Amino acid sequence: MFTERFAAKLLSKKKEGLYRKPVNVGKRRGKYIYINNRKVVNFASNDYLGLGVDREISEKVSQNFLKYRNSSSSSRLVSGNFSIITEAEKEYANYFGFCDALFFPSGYQANLALFSGLFSSKDSLFFDKHVHASCVKGMVLSNADCFGYNHNSISHLEKRLIDKRSEYTAVVTESLFSMDGDFIKKEEYTALRAKYGFLSVIDAAHSLGAVGEKGCGQIDEIADVGVGTFGKAFGFFGAFLLLPAKFKEYLFNFASPLIYSTALPEAHAVSVMDILQIISKADEKRCILKDLSVRMKHGLNDFGFKVKGDAHIISIIMGNSAKALKTSQDLIEKGYFVLSARYPTVPFNKAVLRIGMTALHTKEDVDGFINALSDLR
Ligand SMILES: Cc1ncc(COP(=O)(O)O)c(C=O)c1O
Repeated sequence: MFTERFAAKLLSKKKEGLYRKPVNVGKRRGKYIYINNRKVVNFASNDYLGLGVDREISEKVSQNFLKYRNSSSSSRLVSGNFSIITEAEKEYANYFGFCDALFFPSGYQANLALFSGLFSSKDSLFFDKHVHASCVKGMVLSNADCFGYNHNSISHLEKRLIDKRSEYTAVVTESLFSMDGDFIKKEEYTALRAKYGFLSVIDAAHSLGAVGEKGCGQIDEIADVGVGTFGKAFGFFGAFLLLPAKFKEYLFNFASPLIYSTALPEAHAVSVMDILQIISKADEKRCILKDLSVRMKHGLNDFGFKVKGDAHIISIIMGNSAKALKTSQDLIEKGYFVLSARYPTVPFNKAVLRIGMTALHTKEDVDGFINALSDLR
């Protein structure tokens, strides 16, 4: 019975060009991945600074795992609340200008814990319609009243606030949007926050580490609660919330995804402190990333492509899902890999090719990619 249901649903996905069959990656070597034994330049990773393949980090991480061993073997609420984790959390909080921080095994889990833990029925959550799926899922679990506003439209957010805000109101948005690649409109947003006094929750997964002086992304200026992930610019895995001390205490008592899940091991905490040192000194990598991203965006514009993106995430607008998929497949033959982002990752019929720039790329990679894409057109 279930098998037939699944088969029918999969077939309809295929017909709509929305079927997902990820490429098999044989191996990864720096900026390259191997797909069907073909070496291609990877423009589909979030390794913005190239730290995910950094040898110095690999060595430190290996040593940390040898010293502290493999697993925490329990939740923070049982015997996994190692003091070194709390120490690392304090270090992250200080670095980004917050009172405290809380680590999670993934950003998805952090968002589930944050929204389902901190909010409940009768609270009002206003969210940018393009926030990440994990924020949406967390908000659904919270049972709060949720109101979407148009992507990055501060005027629409204000209209919705006027109509629907309640005593406990929070706004949920991203600092650098994961698919559109645009920054939040910081000045307008800050003015609105001052006017209405809402709690500001900012998912900064794509900006922390990669943007601004020392990679801080000025998150402390716009957020009461910030979300960061170690799996992107930090080149590792796991995630962190930046938050007031009372919020952390509350989550320890009420957030099911934290209470009932095995904590990250001690070696992870020591490793992320090592990585923070490297992030703090990576201004040169951030500069390379910025310059290459500008080159990519301008180059694509010059060739007549419609592109979005204010930084290292650049989206080429394709519209039709099947066309986006076919272009991404054809680019593999030409030596480049880029994600075709389709519904429901992006709105229906608004498929894009999502380029993730990294400091590992070169000018030649950028120019080669643009030429390859133009040939296909
Ligand atoms: C904006 C945003 N938040 C959260 C996440 C989830 O992070 P993780 O991959 O660590 O689960 C992602 C992942 O892509 C993301 O783009």
